[in-house]
This record gives sequence, C-alpha cells and structure tokens, in this order.
Amino acid sequence: MSDGGAQPALSPLPDGPVGVMDSGVGGLSVLRHLRAELPAEDCLYFADQAHIPYGPRPAEQVFAFTAAITRFLLARHTKLVVVACNTATTAALDRLRQTFPDLPFVGMEPAVKPAAAQTRSGVVGVLATPGTLSSDRYASLMARFAANVRVLEDPCLGLVQLIEAGASQSAETRTLLERAVAPMLAAGADTLVLGCTHYPFIRPLLEEIAGPDVTIIDPAPAVARHTRNVLQQRGRLAPETRAGVLRCYTTGDAARMAALTADLLGVGCPVRAVRWQDRP
Ligand code: DGL
Repeated sequence: MSDGGAQPALSPLPDGPVGVMDSGVGGLSVLRHLRAELPAEDCLYFADQAHIPYGPRPAEQVFAFTAAITRFLLARHTKLVVVACNTATTAALDRLRQTFPDLPFVGMEPAVKPAAAQTRSGVVGVLATPGTLSSDRYASLMARFAANVRVLEDPCLGLVQLIEAGASQSAETRTLLERAVAPMLAAGADTLVLGCTHYPFIRPLLEEIAGPDVTIIDPAPAVARHTRNVLQQRGRLAPETRAGVLRCYTTGDAARMAALTADLLGVGCPVRAVRWQDRP
C-alpha cells in the first residue's frame, strides 16, 4: 500500500497517533467520540473505500485487508488501533492481535449485552451487516448474554452504500429502514442496537421511525472510554496541554472522502489517497 511518501519502519511509538480504521465513513461515528474523549491525541483515520462494503466479504479477505491497513498505520508509528468496524472486528480482531502482539487493539461489537440487560419487553432488534450477524463472535455474544431475550436481526442490505453516497436522510434510506425495523417493532422490541458503525448516521431517521419509547444503543461512547483506559494503563496518553491533529487516508476518492468527512464529522480534515498494490 502506498500514499506516495517514504515508508518508515514498522513500530508503535509511545507518543505516536491513535489509528482508526473502517471500510469507509462508518468509523467516523466512533472517531467523533474518540476526539471528544481524547482531544490531545493525534488520530489517523483510514477508510478502505476501494473495498467497501466489508459486510458480504469472507472473513479471510477482511483479515487480509485489515492486516495490510495495520501495517500502513504501524509504519506511521500508531500506538493503538481502534477497529471502528463491527464486521472487521468479528472477522479479524483475534488474528490481528496474534499477528501484531506489540500493538494494542480496541474493537467494536454489537451491544447485545447492554441491550439484553436493559430491555423491559424482552425483545431486542439488532441492525448489523451479514458478516457480523453470521460470525462466531456474534454467536458467542448471543449465547453468553441473550439467552433470556428474543433477538430479531436485520442485515439492512444496501444501507452502508446509501450512507457512503451521502444519502443518510433520503426517502430510499427511510424505506429501507422502515422495512428492517417494522417486524422488530411489531414483535414488541423496545431496544435497537446499532451493530454497524455506519448506522449512527441514520439515527435521527431511526428515532423518527421507532418513536420515543424505543431505546437505541450506539456502543461508540463506551469504546472511546475503553480506548482512554487502555492508553492510560499503558502510560501512553498524550499530554493534555496539546491539541491533537487529525489526518485521514482513503483507498477511494480523496476529494469525496473529504466532503463526506466534513459533512458527517462537522470539521474539515486533510485526506490523502492511498493505492492498494498487488502486495500491500
Ligand atoms: N462499518 C462497518 C461495520 O461496522 C461495515 C460496513 C461495511 O459493510 O463495509 O460493520
């Protein structure tokens, strides 16, 4: 993989940046909480838009992409990587930890545990990608935490692409969401889990459709707090006197990513294009 610059050695540095990766703009919904929780940290955001969506891809392929992205981030001395993607976490996180034992990783998974703990009706809806819903990690979450609740799932096919196209508030997105959550609401679901990091961007629409009595859970704030704890435990928090810098990379179109980032994050940020090579 190359952004046209020199490729430095692969090693984390205690004062290096926090790396954040996703298949596209979804991880920005995590990045905004990371930047609020850790304003002094430099962040490198990596969007693999050449390969989006990850959701329907085999786990082996998602692992190969995320391992290559990790090498790219490590070459920039990233001190911790947040896998801001449920699909990549379920497909690859264990192997990433084995492959890069010196680098701390923080992952994301559908918030089934808090949803099961707080539902009053005993019915929970999970919106996540096909890759996440069919993973062993998700099956294990269900077995451990959801034995006593009814969980209805929907893979929301096409929703990630609509969000990437900047159509989060469109009529097409509303129709897709209404179809996905109608059976959940009809079954009495009072809690909906955003099990894909793209989905917090359709939260306003989902709130309108689900109504005020339904709780929507986004695990991103908890992930940001967990990231702070991991950095603190390792003595790697940046001094609070400084303001962190954000840089973005995309394997897709840099100008488009810059426009989407400004729109979704509310702040502009430099975006560099990165090319996949035969051997990343
Ligand atoms: N944002 C990713 C997630 O959290 C998935 C998007 C995709 O399918 O690429 O699952």
